[in-house]
Amino acid sequence: MIFSKIIGTGHYLPSRMVSNEELSRTLDTSDEWISSRTGIRQRHIAAADESSVDLAQRAAERALAAAGLQGSDLDLIIVATSTPEHIFPSDASQLQQRLGCRPIPAFDMQAACSGFIYGLVTADNFIRAGSCQRVLLVGCDVFSHILNWQDRNTAVLFGDGAGAVVLGASPTPGILSSVIYSDGQYCNLLQVPLNVGTAENQRSQRQPYVEMSGSEVFRRAVSALADLVTELLAKAELRPEQLDFLVPHQANARIITATAKHLNLPLEKVIMTVAEHANTSAASVPLALDVGIRRGQIQPGHRLLLEAFGAGFTWGGCVVQY
Ligand code: ACO
Repeated sequence: MIFSKIIGTGHYLPSRMVSNEELSRTLDTSDEWISSRTGIRQRHIAAADESSVDLAQRAAERALAAAGLQGSDLDLIIVATSTPEHIFPSDASQLQQRLGCRPIPAFDMQAACSGFIYGLVTADNFIRAGSCQRVLLVGCDVFSHILNWQDRNTAVLFGDGAGAVVLGASPTPGILSSVIYSDGQYCNLLQVPLNVGTAENQRSQRQPYVEMSGSEVFRRAVSALADLVTELLAKAELRPEQLDFLVPHQANARIITATAKHLNLPLEKVIMTVAEHANTSAASVPLALDVGIRRGQIQPGHRLLLEAFGAGFTWGGCVVQY
């Protein structure tokens, strides 16, 4: 049997940091409101000429270095993003060129904040099917380009960044269980409209900015993630106490603590980066994973539960043996 294993990780954050206090100078908000409702204290924001491919390249180079590989060793590139540099070509094809890869398959996938988990399940399936040996998976987003900076309901929640993993074929399992879902009946609770395609879109002439019914998203996320982690552990035949770390999507510290409480996990077993990075969408889980590894918290052999929830709604997770 062939399995897939994470053999290298990396991340990149733009150099400019924006504090809650800085945002409160131009928005009717406060550090107190943002940090108490979300856990966020600051976020990194890309330069005007910095794209998701630029962020992805830096994260990918670090993940490849950690795996001891070069671009030419890769068999497949998947980039999870909702903010590609172009509509086409894909971020993945541009990254392939920048990393000096051979002609190999490369494509983007879009599942909003769940994109990295969708990519991990896809990469695992390619490797287990025997069609690829070494896969680069990047989650990257530049939400600063699709935020209405006058809207305090959304502008304070997001940051820019990229996280990458390299997966390699392995005789022992690295992904112990995985589950992904979508439920399109909630599409309109979290969206970025484009004024094309439908008569309603063309009439409304809304800007292509993030629109969110925050409290409804919050409620559904807490409930879906509780069911998800229970299902993931059952599939992996593990009890919560056998997990070394929860590596959750970093949207809101209150959603993360609700999931940890459901698992009865102490917060020392949760990788939390939401205070420093805010919600980086598809980058959030691989970014937290790499931070946990580089801080020395996550060690080889540890069992990790990765999960995410986002627009669609989409949600999913994997239990990983690192
Ligand atoms: N500063 C000050 N006040 C604010 C701000 C702000 N930045 N934003 C909203 N408020 C106000 C609201 O206007 C409202 O005022 P009102 O009571 O006078 O109407 C009040 O604060 C409470 O608003 P709620 O929306 O009820 O606040 P809540 O406690 O639910 O927190 C939040 C809002 C942080 C958005 C939360 O609902 C949340 O985290 N939701 C989930 C986000 C998420 O997980 N997204 C998924 C991934 S994103 C993706 O996939 C792209």
